[in-house]
Amino acid sequence: MIIGRAIGETSLSSIEFISKTSPKIGEYVTLNYDGKTVLGMIETLIHGSVSLNSDIYDPGTVDMIKAIEGNDTYIKGKVKILGDLDDNLRIPRTPASPGTEIYLADNDILNKIFQVKNPLKIGGLISQENIDVNININKMITRHLAILAMTGAGKSNTVCVIIDELLKYNGTMVIFDMHSEYVDGEFNNGEVNIIIPEINPIYMSFSEIRRLTNISSSAYIQERYFRESYKIAINEAREGNSRDFLNVLKGNLNNWYESEIFRGKELKSGEKTKIMDVINKVEDLENKYGSLLNTNVGDILSQIQLGKANIINLGQSDEATAEVIVSHVLRNALNSRKLFIHKKTEKGLKFPVFFIVEEAHILAPKNRSINSKLWISRIAREGRKFGLGLCLVSQSPKSLDPDSLSQANNMIILRLVEPQDQRHVQSASESLSEDLLLQLPSLNIGEAVVLGLMVKIPTLVKIDEFKGRRYGDDLDIVNEWNQYKSNQEKEVEKQKQAFKGLGGNY
Ligand SMILES: Nc1ncnc2c1ncn2[C@@H]1O[C@H](COP(=O)(O)OP(=O)(O)O)[C@@H](O)[C@H]1O
Ligand SMILES: [Mg+2]
Repeated sequence: MIIGRAIGETSLSSIEFISKTSPKIGEYVTLNYDGKTVLGMIETLIHGSVSLNSDIYDPGTVDMIKAIEGNDTYIKGKVKILGDLDDNLRIPRTPASPGTEIYLADNDILNKIFQVKNPLKIGGLISQENIDVNININKMITRHLAILAMTGAGKSNTVCVIIDELLKYNGTMVIFDMHSEYVDGEFNNGEVNIIIPEINPIYMSFSEIRRLTNISSSAYIQERYFRESYKIAINEAREGNSRDFLNVLKGNLNNWYESEIFRGKELKSGEKTKIMDVINKVEDLENKYGSLLNTNVGDILSQIQLGKANIINLGQSDEATAEVIVSHVLRNALNSRKLFIHKKTEKGLKFPVFFIVEEAHILAPKNRSINSKLWISRIAREGRKFGLGLCLVSQSPKSLDPDSLSQANNMIILRLVEPQDQRHVQSASESLSEDLLLQLPSLNIGEAVVLGLMVKIPTLVKIDEFKGRRYGDDLDIVNEWNQYKSNQEKEVEKQKQAFKGLGGNY
């Protein structure tokens, strides 16, 4: 079906056209020129009228002009050229000539484009919902993914759809679940494996624990006492002693402080003060991370199960704890995969993993240098070679570390209204055109611009609605209030009855 013709000056990358019908934004079209069939996508549309121009100042004249001129409206739009259909979507070297006919792309063409080996179906085209949009799993994981949108636009729903589809292929995901949204999740194609956010100190390096204790590497006197006590405590933990790691750590320091003897030598008063400094820091450590350190748990990495949605429940953890867990897991995963791939050791993470980081702007913030950001950016840069993929989910792209974001070569961008967020996303992705950017505020819930290597062409997609179970939907506040009130009334009534039963007079 012809929907219009090219007008004005055309270029290699875009063509203006005029039409009488009403095509839709995001719709695919084909043009024949230069002996080729070229695919394009409609990126902008305006509806105008020759006679009803914006110089009219009296609404009454509109009816008069309409009566005289009849329907003289037109549709003008812009097509972005996506490439030659018979030549792997290469952009032709010559522009189309003005007047070139523009056809709506037919379903066969589109189905072929969205066909991939091992498809992961995320939804359908917004303009033609019967066309499935499949994404390339290998490209999604090795080239990382960012899911960006304002709150409530459908990020977590998208995550669930992706998890469920990956589970069909024994996909192995680790989800850092900041709001316990996924913990009670139910997926149609596989199981959930809950991992409690606790680290056994025997799997942490000395410097990791020293950093948590806030002893800087230049405070060498403090470090000397701390290291001595750490050695004793960690050896006990390794031997499976049931005494608590932090208690042992503190106990040694207290002994030295009170006995005033360290390594058989009497302490001077200045040295005692240093020990007290360390004791205070260990107490802070206990207050802040006490629930994190547990000598009775196994290595977190070894709890990751193949073919499951592995969920690390961080809903009860504060940000500092979440940061430690995320760094610990990512750092060890990267090291372990390196060893496994290079040295072919039997130990270590034997299979690829896709890490999903919700609230990515908190764990990899733009303006603060924290450990989780370091390891997120390391995985973003190096993960590809070792089968570690990253999915960054955020409602605030402008506060997200630009380095990590620009390593995400795939993007699913749902409704995004804030101009600063939009600009940030655009600067991280070369394939997000100015025209597509303008579409972001007018997307509905669940509608997304999908870009990157995991799809052959930029696509406007209606993401499928996740059919399993997930928490984190908005609460029905009014219902909660009513529920509470009626429970209260029932309780009062019960007490009245009980009182009467006792022969009381109410
Ligand atoms: N693709 C979709 N199809 C239908 N409904 C959706 C879709 N995406 C989101 N929703 C609805 O919008 C709500 C909010 O989506 P959610 O994924 O939790 O948003 P976000 O994580 O971006 O805050 C969901 O509970 C669901 O009801
Ligand atoms: Mg969410």
